[in-house]
Parts: sequence; structure tokens; C-alpha cells
Amino acid sequence: MAKKKILFECQACGYKSGKWMGKCTNCGAWDSFVELGEKEMEIIKSLERTSGNKALCITDVTQEQIERFGTGDAELDLVLGGGVVEGSLVLVGGSPGVGKSTLLLKTCANLANSGKKVLYVSAEESSGQIKLRADRIGANSKNLYLLNELVLEDILAEFRQNGYDMLVIDSIQTIYSNTITSAPGSVSQVRAVTFELMRIAKESKKPVFIIGHITKEGSIAGPRVLEHMVDTVLYFEGDSSKDIRILRSFKNRFGSINEVGIFEMTQRGLVDAKNIAKKFFDKKSNQAGSAATVVMEGSRPLILEVQALVAESGYANPKRSSTGYDAGRLTMLLALLEKRLELPFNQYDVFINIAGGIKITEPSADLAVIAAILSSFRNRPLNKETIFLGEVGLTGEIRDVMMQDIRLKEAAAQGFKRAVVPSKPLQENVLKSYVVESVEKIIDWM
Ligand SMILES: Nc1ncnc2c1ncn2[C@@H]1O[C@H](COP(=O)(O)OP(=O)(O)O)[C@@H](O)[C@H]1O
Ligand SMILES: [Mg+2]
Repeated sequence: MAKKKILFECQACGYKSGKWMGKCTNCGAWDSFVELGEKEMEIIKSLERTSGNKALCITDVTQEQIERFGTGDAELDLVLGGGVVEGSLVLVGGSPGVGKSTLLLKTCANLANSGKKVLYVSAEESSGQIKLRADRIGANSKNLYLLNELVLEDILAEFRQNGYDMLVIDSIQTIYSNTITSAPGSVSQVRAVTFELMRIAKESKKPVFIIGHITKEGSIAGPRVLEHMVDTVLYFEGDSSKDIRILRSFKNRFGSINEVGIFEMTQRGLVDAKNIAKKFFDKKSNQAGSAATVVMEGSRPLILEVQALVAESGYANPKRSSTGYDAGRLTMLLALLEKRLELPFNQYDVFINIAGGIKITEPSADLAVIAAILSSFRNRPLNKETIFLGEVGLTGEIRDVMMQDIRLKEAAAQGFKRAVVPSKPLQENVLKSYVVESVEKIIDWM
């Protein structure tokens, strides 16, 4: 008889080892290894199982039928790829206070009002607390049921017995399965709970939403295992001290991951940010160190204000700090300005901030960052009706940005008059455009 394999697993990061360790070699956590029980081994095995299937000719394979329905929230539908898919498992992650419970409670109410029977399970807040929120955001519905429960088996029993059309779990880190001995939130628990939720979603053909908290390091506490298991992963971004929230799709088996949802947090809950165009820049303020650019959030152009502060440094190593813009790119741009324009940035502290708490993830804002830096350095405001577009290369050349025409059109719609761009626009535009090929030329614009 083969010897039974014993496996230990770090409950902080999921690292597996054949022997027990006091300190995890992967994440450094102390005393985090537990021996995996039979049930856990079974789950791991069934997650890995791919054997025993026969190859089929693609012409004989029948297409998977996907059935979707709208959530009553246009932004959420957009991010999901056109609505919720029946039988799908969706993870909504985000830092505490960002608005996960608010969004899902409202979504549940919308669906309940449209005739679906919805079960909202909260292990974090009492039903009374949720009711308080429901009253505030207008999420009362005859078809919406609240369950205050920590034990997965009891939640599943309720869901199975009473004919619900949708299930929401708030949050995955607080629910535990009776069959596993580890603490809630540990790798073993999160995996076991998610596994069962996936099973019930597929078996009942009803959508299941899971809320997950994100740790300071930016990962869902208890691990990546969760991301691999679910169909769709949505992350909520935004500063809880500011109003704008962005819902981004990180993984989606049923749609594109390019679209983002943009919301505004109000007294009445999260509302679609209708007039977002004007939220991220203020054309009235005329300060040095501010430059406007257009970034693409999915298929939507968004005008953002890049702010720079350049101040003489009292330190041998001047400070560089960047919020919402890649710090490595900032260092690169400063080196380029020093070399090409012979400006003494090695004696200056430089701070960059993207107004509105948005993170710029594409390089098209490089030119605006340079313009803002030079404007602050010379203490000379830029023309408020000028928009800057362009990626900056290591040799100082200004490179094309994708979808330039769509960006310029939006800038024109928002009242901008001039654009500094890498190449001539294809379409005639109300904006007057000026082509700059290299960083040296940008100086003419200051
Ligand atoms: N009375 C209120 N008026 C306006 N906004 C509120 C009110 N109460 C809570 N909020 C907002 O709701 C947020 C909490 O949202 P919540 O959905 O509980 O977040 P999460 O579930 O992601 O932790 C707070 O950060 C705050 O912005
Ligand atoms: Mg919450």
C-alpha cells in the first residue's frame, strides 16, 4: 500500500511543503503551517483534476450557452461585460470602506425589485446595520432577504431550500466551513468556502457574488487561490476620503477586461458618475504646475489634471514622490529633462499628483507630466485651454498614443482649444493641434 502523503500549507500565503516549518520560506510568516486534512486534499485534487477527458474535434463541440441579465446598474453591467451571467461566481475586492457592501446591497435590491429572490449574507454586520444602510440608499425590497450567518453549510442550506435566484456573501474572509479546522480567512478556509460556492453556482445555475477585503499589500487577504477559482474578479479603486470610485475588471471569463465602471459615493449610496468629465480637472484654477491630459479608461476618454510641485531641495538626495503616476517613469522623465534641457533637477524635490485619486496606467500622460514639472519649475502657469498628449521615449522622442482622435474629440467637447500632440490628428478637429517630436521642443510651449 502506498504511504499516505502528508502535506503542510502556509495559511497566510498558500505555500505547500512536505514538512512542517516554523517560518514560511515564501512569505516569512511564523507558525503558519498546518497539516492538510482529507477534505482539503480532496478539494485541492478536484481543483487540479483535468485527467480522464477525451479530446473532441472542435467542430463537434457545442458552444457554451451564456445567459445574462442586467443588474439595473449600467456601470456594473459594463464591467461585467453586459450583465451578470447565470451560474457565474464573481469576486468583488477592495479596501475597507471603498463601497463594496453598498454597491452589492443596491444591486441586490435592484434585482429583487425586478422579481428575483435574492439572499444577502452578511457575517460582518448585523441585519439591523444593513437595514440602516438599505434605508439610506433606498434598497428595501420584498424579495431581498438578509441572513446573518458565519457557517457556510447553514448558508448553503438556506440558499438551496428556499429557491433564491442570487447569492451574495459579505465577506469571504468571515465565513467558515465546518469541515475545515483552520481559522476563517486562512488559505484553507477561503479555498474550501470558494470551492463550495463555485459548486453551488454551477449546480443551481444562479450567480454568486463574493466580497473580499484587500490587504494593505493590495492582494485579497487569504490569497490568490481565490482569483484562480472564480469566473470574474472586479476590483474597486478609489480613496475612501474622495467621492469617485472606479470598478475595474481584473479577470472575466465572460467578457472583456478593458471596461471600467465609474461611480460617485453620495449620501444615497453609489451612483453612476454621469457628469464625470468635469470631476477631474478645474479649468478655472490657473496655477503653475498643472497640466491637462486625456487618458482612456476602457473605451472612455477621461480628462485628468496632472499636478507637479518642484521645490529646491535641502537634501543631498532630493525627494521624488508620485501619487497616481508610476514613480519609475517620473525618475526617467526627470533624468531626461536633466540631460536634454540641462535643468538642475538633482537639486530639486519633485512631487507629482493626479487630481481626483485616479491611477494613470498608460504612458500617454508623460508629456503632461513634463509640462506640469516645467511649469512648476519656472513658476509659470500653462494655458488652461491646452491639453497635452504623448508618450516620452528614453531618447527624448515623443511617441504616438493610441486613440488620439477620440481623446482630442473629448477634449474639444470639454472646451479645450489647443492640443500638444505627437502626430497630426487624422480627423479635422476644432482643436488647434501642435506637433512636438521631442522633449526639447516642449519648451516652446511653456
Ligand atoms: N451616512 C453616510 N453618508 C454618505 N456616505 C456614507 C454614509 N455612511 C457611509 N458612507 C460611505 O460608505 C462607505 C462605506 O461603504 P461600504 O459599502 O460599507 O464599504 P465596504 O463594504 O467596501 O467596506 C464609507 O466609506 C462612506 O464613504
Ligand atoms: Mg462591507
